[in-house]
Amino acid sequence: MVMSNKLGFPESFLWGGALAANQCEGAYREGGKGLTNIDLCPTGKNRFKVMLGNIESFSPMEGEIYPSHEAIDFYHNFREDIALFGEMGFKCLRVSVAWGRIFPNGDDETPNEEGLKFYDELFDEMLKHDIQPVVTICHFDIPVALIENYGGWRSRKLVEFYERYTKTIFNRYKDKVKYWMTFNEINMLLHLPFVGAGIVFKEGEDKNKIKYQAAHHQLMASALATKAAHEIIPGVMVGCMLAAGVTYPYTCNPDDVQKAMDKDRENYFFIDVQSRGEYPGYAKRFFRENGIEIEMEPGDEEILKTYTVDYIGFSYYASRCASTDPEILKGMTNGNVFETIKNPYLKASEWGWQIDPKGLRITCNTLFDRYQKPLFIVENGLGAVDKIEEDGSIIDDYRIEYLREHVKEMKEAVLDGVELIGYTSWGCIDIVSASTGEMKKRYGFIYVDKDNDGNGTLERSRKKSFYWYKKVIESNGETLE
Ligand code: BG6
Repeated sequence: MVMSNKLGFPESFLWGGALAANQCEGAYREGGKGLTNIDLCPTGKNRFKVMLGNIESFSPMEGEIYPSHEAIDFYHNFREDIALFGEMGFKCLRVSVAWGRIFPNGDDETPNEEGLKFYDELFDEMLKHDIQPVVTICHFDIPVALIENYGGWRSRKLVEFYERYTKTIFNRYKDKVKYWMTFNEINMLLHLPFVGAGIVFKEGEDKNKIKYQAAHHQLMASALATKAAHEIIPGVMVGCMLAAGVTYPYTCNPDDVQKAMDKDRENYFFIDVQSRGEYPGYAKRFFRENGIEIEMEPGDEEILKTYTVDYIGFSYYASRCASTDPEILKGMTNGNVFETIKNPYLKASEWGWQIDPKGLRITCNTLFDRYQKPLFIVENGLGAVDKIEEDGSIIDDYRIEYLREHVKEMKEAVLDGVELIGYTSWGCIDIVSASTGEMKKRYGFIYVDKDNDGNGTLERSRKKSFYWYKKVIESNGETLE
């Protein structure tokens, strides 16, 4: 029985989990799917070079391992996996559609029926278990043909192709999907341009100019998708998606405070456009002072202004720190591919990501104060190495602790007055890590038997956190022990 908790999470709160096609589906050339950018990101030392857009290669390279090719084979196992999510009581599941399954080359005139059928089956299966689909339209998946023939999102042509793709899926799934997100972690484009926008740089190019022009194209595509969704699907909710995490000034030195604000604005820039509908003054100043002139077509500004998002989706893993002191800047660590200074008050994950539950409350409040729109936490979780006990069980108390502390702070945010519609924990079943390509960096409530080299039976088993999360959902966030 769901407890009445008027001062806690709303009864309609969407508890669930989150996945991305490229990290779970596998079957990378089945069902007519075209090759996508992530299919070209190997594990190991070349991964970052490719993801940063520093290697030009449009087909898999000899001797490399490509984790997306098989991933956890969700493509063939989704019915079993969704039954497990149903057992946990998921109210929703965030998945993404792989663009390359629907339009294998990205610029095809007609969609690939087999790809469309796959997502029909996937959404039907979710609905059968009373799990509402929350769908990311583009989660780092860009057809390679668009990169090879048009230069990825540096080309305005992609706005048109994306529009065709979004209208196709809105029309097809209009009775099945209410919650959509246009681009996963849209600000990732600045940090991993090949992953976020299919950009490969040429020698001597002005990288900032290219990245911000590509950003304009994605922002236009996002606004046009929002327009189309509102026209096609009654009651639809279209969201943006930000890789969030507040930046703290390392000290109260005003220079540090200014730097922290500037760092946050690099990310808010995207959402300021998607939610407030215009380029903010600080961005215009940055462009002016860096010789960046965004090429716009007549009517662009009006489209951005008119078709703003309905809710703010975001991922939160860690907070960040900013300093202007060269000595302090020596102590850097990772945090969702954003390099940041280590915060002496926080512990970190095995991958150096700073663990900061209170930062989630602060992030929620900051975003809500800024945009005054409902928020949806669509990613959060702990990437950790799991150990299988002799009896086969997995006692992941560290994951439970991480999630529990974050859910507590999320509730505090709700009590602060933040309008929060849901929470989907990242990688609810173990999947391939986006940053490292590893399998051993696990987030799931469900263990998948597969290692970094691709060995394993792919068998699924429930971890201790599986039973814990089930209780959290059953009690609508009241039972956290
Ligand atoms: C986000 C992405 O950046 O963080 C996911 O949207 C990703 O795709 C997640 O998997 C966790 O990062 P990682 O590198 O630990 O998989």
